[in-house]
Amino acid sequence: MWTINATYKSNRTILPKILDHFGYYPTCFTISTNRAMSQKLSPNPTYDVIILGASGFTGKHVIREALKFLNVSSSPLKNLAIAGRNASRLSRALQWASGPNPPPEIPILAADTNDPSSLRHLASQTKIILNCVGPFRLYGEPVVEACVDSGCDYLDICGEPEFMERMEVKYHDKAVENGSLVVSACGFDSVPAELGWMFCSRQWTPPAICSTIEAYISLESDKRIVGNLGTYESAVLSVANADKLQELRRSRPKKPRPVILGTSSKGPMINHLKEVGLWAVKLPSADATVVRRTLSCLAENLHGLPGVNESTEQIERREEFWSTIKPAHFGMKIASKYLLGVVRFITVGKFIALFGKTGIGRWLLLNFPSVFSLGFFRKKGPTEDEVASATFKMWFVGDGFTDGSLASQGNRKPDMQIITRVMGPEIGYLTTPSILVQCALILLKERDSLPKGGVFPPGIVFGPTDLQDRLQKNGITFDVISKKTVVHLTI
Ligand SMILES: NC(=O)c1ccc[n+]([C@@H]2O[C@H](COP(=O)([O-])OP(=O)(O)OC[C@H]3O[C@@H](n4cnc5c(N)ncnc54)[C@H](OP(=O)(O)O)[C@@H]3O)[C@@H](O)[C@H]2O)c1
Repeated sequence: MWTINATYKSNRTILPKILDHFGYYPTCFTISTNRAMSQKLSPNPTYDVIILGASGFTGKHVIREALKFLNVSSSPLKNLAIAGRNASRLSRALQWASGPNPPPEIPILAADTNDPSSLRHLASQTKIILNCVGPFRLYGEPVVEACVDSGCDYLDICGEPEFMERMEVKYHDKAVENGSLVVSACGFDSVPAELGWMFCSRQWTPPAICSTIEAYISLESDKRIVGNLGTYESAVLSVANADKLQELRRSRPKKPRPVILGTSSKGPMINHLKEVGLWAVKLPSADATVVRRTLSCLAENLHGLPGVNESTEQIERREEFWSTIKPAHFGMKIASKYLLGVVRFITVGKFIALFGKTGIGRWLLLNFPSVFSLGFFRKKGPTEDEVASATFKMWFVGDGFTDGSLASQGNRKPDMQIITRVMGPEIGYLTTPSILVQCALILLKERDSLPKGGVFPPGIVFGPTDLQDRLQKNGITFDVISKKTVVHLTI
């Protein structure tokens, strides 16, 4: 396997095999012919971060976000590379991401998920791989495997529960052993949901206790709200393979369940949240499953996950953080100001559920995304204007008891409600890159206070860090909207 290290100012001697691989003559390449004899992470990795899949719609936005922190004095990001299977697309992405400035001279590395040795070579040279190659159920596993084998850290923007849980089952033990931290869902899926429920939970001061948190996501824009095909394809494949997730869960030992006071009620299929004027329907996104994984991890580790080399102060900070969080039933809904908006979400869900089951149905869904998603997804993705004008609001409606001891008394109804909100810019290409890059910066800066290794959801790893503060500095806000007690009249 040849490793290609492409910069814009090097020599022009390229092997025919490599040209063939890329299908064109790039401006200039340097070629390093070392075959990565040792696939273990070097003690002094060349790169802090490699963005894999950087030529994709999301990948190019991740480059743009990462460049904001590259070689800035306060930032730990000093060496960045981008990687993928097509050099011309990668260099175009770099050019786009750096615009209007000329592209910086950062290395462009060859890596294909069908070529495990190219991934092992990447993983041996970097502290962290940020994986933007999706759908993850198709392409993600070899990347996780390479990172876990070498001992480098891995973050991704996956929103596919089956992939995340399968990686945990297959690679957790080895990741612990090799000191590789593998954290999926470090994007809009599912960090706002994770940090959001924790923020809501922390507003309840004892003896008050929260028993249910229902999150309502509402997407807003004065232009069209559009996602790229990559996300749509991942959603279609997730639905098509929903039975595999059930099989996986049945096949592995039961995870510990958190103790939650009070019961969760199913409620109607569509509900109206009058406090914020939204109609909503259940959203089968990854968020609820990711939150449940964090809760389950917390049930096993009441004080969170110990860091690899934590100071006393860091231990105290972590334990204090988790002492303020109490498990609650969690659900996710998608909301709209208009009932018709909710009907539109349901229709898209029904199309995906119905057509996603057969090969021909999936072909139709993926070849005519605008038709079957009623305009929510487009092959070419959103325009820059559409990205810039979109925002999200995620409301967390916490219901509970003014006194936790009341929760276990018969059929007592919750008598207290706290509503909080997380709000930010467009979800897929502004919020997601921002979250992913901030998670990477935390890993670079605070690796000693984080677990040595393992496959975890983002909440349990990043909850006690300064991720929320960092997101607030980057345009994502966390607010308390209302607190009220409810008097139930008994007649
Ligand atoms: N968490 C979130 O909220 C969130 C937000 C946005 C996106 N996502 C997820 O991110 C993923 C990517 O979405 P997208 O819209 O950016 O898709 P995309 O535009 O199709 O990009 C896919 C990327 O993967 C690369 N790739 C595909 N096959 C590869 C292989 N065999 N080896 C190496 N690279 C390969 C592509 O490279 P080429 O350029 O060479 O084709 C491209 O760079 C999806 O799974 C999506 O669900 C999640």
